[in-house]
Amino acid sequence: MAAPTREVILGVGGGIAAYKACDLLRRMQDLGFAVTVVPTPSSLNFVGSATWEALSGREVTTSVFESVDQVRHVSLARLAEAIVIAPATADLIARIAAGRADDLLTNVVLASEGPIFIVPAMHPAMWFNKATQANVETLRARGYFVMEPAEGALTSGDVGKGRFPETSEILAQLHQSVFLPQDLTGKKVLISAGGTREAIDPVRYIGNRSTGKQGIAIAEAALARGADVSLVIANSSLPTNPRINRINVESVKELSSALAQKFSETDYLFMAAAVSDARPSSVANEKIKKSLFTSIELVENEDVLATLCANKLQQVIVAFAAETDLDSVELAQEKMERKGADVIYLNNVSGGAIFGESATSGSIIDKNGLLESFTDISKEKLAHSLINQAIKYSNKLG
Ligand code: CTP
Repeated sequence: MAAPTREVILGVGGGIAAYKACDLLRRMQDLGFAVTVVPTPSSLNFVGSATWEALSGREVTTSVFESVDQVRHVSLARLAEAIVIAPATADLIARIAAGRADDLLTNVVLASEGPIFIVPAMHPAMWFNKATQANVETLRARGYFVMEPAEGALTSGDVGKGRFPETSEILAQLHQSVFLPQDLTGKKVLISAGGTREAIDPVRYIGNRSTGKQGIAIAEAALARGADVSLVIANSSLPTNPRINRINVESVKELSSALAQKFSETDYLFMAAAVSDARPSSVANEKIKKSLFTSIELVENEDVLATLCANKLQQVIVAFAAETDLDSVELAQEKMERKGADVIYLNNVSGGAIFGESATSGSIIDKNGLLESFTDISKEKLAHSLINQAIKYSNKLG
């Protein structure tokens, strides 16, 4: 089966560096990407539509009012794996940060749910202006990738930070951030995330501090690498990409049955959910009065992971262990093997530091020992490392 075409949108802002984006377009095509160019109207002062049409082999429009029947901004946004905006002027960055939609490119950006990569190029005074810096900060906080401009001589004759980076540098950063290998194409990935809740009465529950961030990061990373992703998520209000098949659950029973339904067709399971080990032996129908609320009798919950592992066929199973002591590799291996998983992430949660945070520290371990250790890395980076190790494991099985 031929690999599907990888589509990218190249947004071009109205700066002199627009001519350098012609080379970037060519290099992206060399890498196998099909590129649709969406210039801003002002950028056509530097490089005209004819050049972009000749280089991309595709029609080029700048306004939402052209080809209206195709609803171009929505169809373009859906089609593309990523949007690369190069060069981005101070004005274009400001318009995107403000959520404006006054030309085709800013409409496409607003309609997109995929990664957006921005390559600023402008005079250093404009780059360092507080307004631009605040806009860049806003975009980064929203998850956009904004490159730092290069330092050197500028068209104005000044020297400083603001130059359009070298094409090779842009491509290197694109590979690290948005042009991910499509090594999960055709694979089904199942992830559990969040923290289960066990009802005590209609008001109270036994729960834990998991927010679902790590599981969501794995789901988004797997999606970006081409997988068909199902996410069974307990009690998390965090948003997820609409292309992820999200199943919201509350209790261990719901989590278990949702996972069991998907498991047989799954290639990779990442069991990131914090599962309640016990539940009240009975759930009160009415709110328990304070005077009677003195103790709760508990019964043990099913070990969901162990049950799934007992039915394991082709699946590669990655478990998680949250420990407050820096547990030894042997103890994590013992837990992994007891449950029947293939790989385990030993997460150091001392002081409750990991819950809800963006960074994580811990180690990836398999039956042969320590594979990788991390200190304060982002949950997104860990997600990719876990996927890499799971794929390696699967390849070893052959
Ligand atoms: N897990 C599960 N069902 C449970 C408890 C845990 O599926 N009832 C899964 C978690 O999702 C995780 C792995 O098992 O992937 C290890 O979780 P952890 O809480 O560290 O394991 P426990 O079995 O609770 O071990 P212990 O309390 O003895 O450390």
